Amino acid sequence: MTAMIREEDNNLKNNLYKNKVIKSNLYNNKIIENKHKKIFKNLFYPLNNKIDENVLAKLLDEYEKPKRYLFLADLNHQGGQAHIFKIFDYLNGSVCVCKQFSDIDDFNNEEKILSLIEKGINDKYFAPKHPNLLKFYGSNKKNIFIGKEQIPSIRFEYFKSKDLHETVEYYNGLSEKRSLKYFKQILNGIKFLHSLKIAHKDIKLENILINRDHIIKIIDFGLSIDMSKGEEYCYNNSGSPLYCSPEIAFSEKHDPFKADLWSLGILLYGMHSADFPYYEPSLYDKDYLEFISGNFKYPNNFSPVIAKIVKSLCNIDPNLRISIDQTIELINNYFNQK
Ligand SMILES: Nc1ncnc2c1ncn2[C@@H]1O[C@H](COP(=O)(O)OP(=O)(O)OP(=O)(O)O)[C@@H](O)[C@H]1O
Ligand SMILES: [Mg+2]
Repeated sequence: MTAMIREEDNNLKNNLYKNKVIKSNLYNNKIIENKHKKIFKNLFYPLNNKIDENVLAKLLDEYEKPKRYLFLADLNHQGGQAHIFKIFDYLNGSVCVCKQFSDIDDFNNEEKILSLIEKGINDKYFAPKHPNLLKFYGSNKKNIFIGKEQIPSIRFEYFKSKDLHETVEYYNGLSEKRSLKYFKQILNGIKFLHSLKIAHKDIKLENILINRDHIIKIIDFGLSIDMSKGEEYCYNNSGSPLYCSPEIAFSEKHDPFKADLWSLGILLYGMHSADFPYYEPSLYDKDYLEFISGNFKYPNNFSPVIAKIVKSLCNIDPNLRISIDQTIELINNYFNQK
């Protein structure tokens, strides 16, 4: 009996030891680095005696630095400015996503907004995260792989998914029921952001992720705006032209929360029909004029429930747009009647 316990004990110890060695080797990249160090010295030192030892020491130092992240894959995507990678974080032992920015202002804005969201989540719900937002893991001003260049990046939880634009294109539009099921999750996520006094300002199919379990995540806070200082309006007119509200299209000062409502309406239209109601937000576009006047003729096979919601969200008068809560109520009524 004692012998058996001892054997088990030893096995356990061995396993723990192996695990520890593997982990520490992974974390420090020791095996690889020591090998490189030798090669480096053997190759360069005898050939060039005049090499500045300080320079060499610095180079080796850089080599010696434990590397925290391992590059796993490039998550290519069309459009967009940022570079998205899948990486492994040795310290936390988790797979995550790294969004690298080419513009420091975009990085600063998104980082600020994500920190506010994180703070809001902790203040409001004492919960680790909101179900429709990605967990924010942190940020770096320098390139996370080499550690010298100024390439800022943000790390998020990895969410195995497709963006809604791809999904909608694949199915050539989603059914009434499916559109409303997804839309309700989007509304919940945006409602939460609005409760923190953050307007998203770039709501579009490409910025919504969906996984195989039909869970939605809202991403990309590059254009989001913090209104928590009590401002009523904003003047920033950037955004995606097809989704932006008329007050943004015509460069007026606007309430960004009401502008988000318009974008939500266009998003729902696109999700259901795989199309846009108009070609461009311009007074020369006949469809646009009809759409903003409220006399738009929806396609024959378009769901009447969805048309009603789109019409109520996309009112040219921002103050007459229905609220997120009212929209959720309409969707709940729809599902209760089914
Ligand atoms: N956490 C994640 N997990 C999986 N895929 C992701 C994740 N974050 C982003 N992606 C993928 O990368 C794409 C682009 O992400 P994002 O919208 O944040 O960047 P972007 O559009 O290039 O940003 P910006 O418009 O601010 O330059 C997404 O559409 C999605 O396909
Ligand atoms: Mg995006």
